This record gives sequence, structure tokens and C-alpha cells, in this order.
Amino acid sequence: MSPSVSDDPKPVRKAVIPAAGLGTRFLPFSKAVPKEMLPVIDRPVIQYVVEEAVDAGITDILIITSRYKKSIEDHFDRLLDLEAHLEAKGKIDEADEIRALSELAQLHFVRQGEALGLGHAIGVARNHVGDEPFVVLLGDDIMHRRAGVLKGMIDAYNDHHCSVVALMEVDPADISAYGCAVAEPHADRLVKVNGLVEKPPPEDAPSSLAIMGRYLFTPAIFDEIERTEPGVGGEIQITDAMLSLLDSEMMLGFTFSDGRFDTGKKIDYLRAVVEFALERDDLGPEFRTILAEITERENLSR
Ligand code: UTP
Repeated sequence: MSPSVSDDPKPVRKAVIPAAGLGTRFLPFSKAVPKEMLPVIDRPVIQYVVEEAVDAGITDILIITSRYKKSIEDHFDRLLDLEAHLEAKGKIDEADEIRALSELAQLHFVRQGEALGLGHAIGVARNHVGDEPFVVLLGDDIMHRRAGVLKGMIDAYNDHHCSVVALMEVDPADISAYGCAVAEPHADRLVKVNGLVEKPPPEDAPSSLAIMGRYLFTPAIFDEIERTEPGVGGEIQITDAMLSLLDSEMMLGFTFSDGRFDTGKKIDYLRAVVEFALERDDLGPEFRTILAEITERENLSR
């Protein structure tokens, strides 16, 4: 099947970051504070996500929020009092860093009135995105730069002019936590997606290739989302809309094997904090010593 796109595709300029979910896996923390605002050292998870998009060349970002997530909007807003206070104290670098947050990209916010599922959240972006290809980055999912995922997906779109989804092999026992893809080799790190199923039980799963928090869609996905009925968990699942899209368009998978942190899951959150702290020049050396001490103590007490 050939992709239904012109030879001269529109550039990928826009990103959608869904961040309106209920975050039930991170209760009680997520009762009053959005899980996307969990700190990884000194910046919230969603800042890493926004910076990843900007690094990949995205200039326009729409964050899908809800009435409980106002702090996300505040985080990217100017805070003139604080900037003035820092400048008066001679803390110019800190003032610049705070100001730079509001200048990362053109940031927009829209609310998903009810958390009806990821597919529904992406559908809320329709008016803003219009007739352009766009990327989706889950707001609680950090992707390490070393994985090169978003850039790789945009390159794949520029070469093949079709939707692209990030895919990673997982332990077959864990596939029921993910959207699952059936695919065949295409080129280098790319596979051609032939089928998709949301959260299959391991015994029914057609593969252990899991969808991992980054998507690049042609605007045709919006019609498919509108036609999608609630699926697994009673939610409007983006995987179901993608499966319908496969009837009319080719879809590629960009495969990678490392560097993704689902910070909405406690153990992955901890891993993110440790890895990012170890990489920091100001914290890494001391933190490495502390970790070694803790590990030694644990080993001795076994
Ligand atoms: P998750 O499935 O990880 O989020 O969705 P959740 O539903 O909040 O998580 P749990 O299972 O209850 O802990 C991935 C991303 O999609 C957003 C979430 O905020 C998260 O960043 N999302 C999910 C929405 O924006 N709207 C939804 O209806 C569902």
C-alpha cells in the first residue's frame, strides 16, 4: 500500500503533549499535583518532554491539560516577580533560566474536559493541528537523548511521508501493559506496521513489540479517532484509531532498545531520577559515591 501523501510533504512543526490523565498509578501524590510535574532532580518531567520536542526541531507545542493541572501551565509562564528578585540579587543565570522556560517554543494549552483516554486526548488537538503532520509525546514519558527517537521518527517521515510510531521489544510477559504491534523489517531501524492491538493478554499477543510513548501522525488520524469507540478499559484508545488508519495509509515503526522512562510508573520514575542525577556534573560524582555506599551496605546486610 502506498502512503496517501504528496511528494512534497508539509514539515513536522507541531507537537501535542497529552497530560490530562488521572495518574492513578502515582496516587496519593497525583491527587493534588499532576504526575507530569514530578521532579526529576530540579525540573518536572514535562519540561524534559517539551525540551525533547524543541531539540527535534518542533516550534509549536500544544499541551492537553485538565482543570486539575493548572500548575503545568504556570510552570511555562513568565514569573516576573521572581525574575526581578533574582536579578536584584545578582542571580542572572537563574533569572535567565526561569525566563527561557517561557520562550522554549510557542506553547499552547487546551483542556480535555474528561479523561476519556489517550485517543480522545489527541482528538482534542484537532483544531489546533489542522491539516499538518504532528508528533505526540506522552507527558509522563521521558526519552533520553541517546535513544534519538523523535529525531529518527521525523527523519523517517521526511523520507517516507507516513505515520511513524516508536516501538521497543519488551519481555513477552509485560506486553499486556502496552499497545502491541505486528511488523515486518523495512529499512535500518524501521519496520512496516501490519497490525496493532491494545494491551493484549500475553498468551494472545501477536508479538512483544510495544508502542512507546512517541507517535508521528498524518492528520488523517483525526477522522479515525472520531470514529473510534471506547475500547480496553472503556477508554478511547489511540491504538484502535491507528489500526483503522492502517486500512488507508502505510505506517512505520521506529525501533529502539533503551532510554525510555515511563515516569508514571514508580520504578521507572526512580530509574529516571538516578540516571539523570548520575549524568549531572554538579551532582553525579557525589551521588555516585552515595549510591556505592548504599549498595555496599545492602550487600553486607544480606
Ligand atoms: P497514561 O495511561 O500513562 O496516563 O497516559 P493515566 O491514565 O493518567 O495513568 P494511570 O494509568 O491512571 O496511572 C499517558 C499520557 O496520556 C495522558 C496522561 O496524562 C499521560 O501523560 N492522558 C491519558 C490524557 O491526557 N488523557 C487521558 O484521557 C488519558
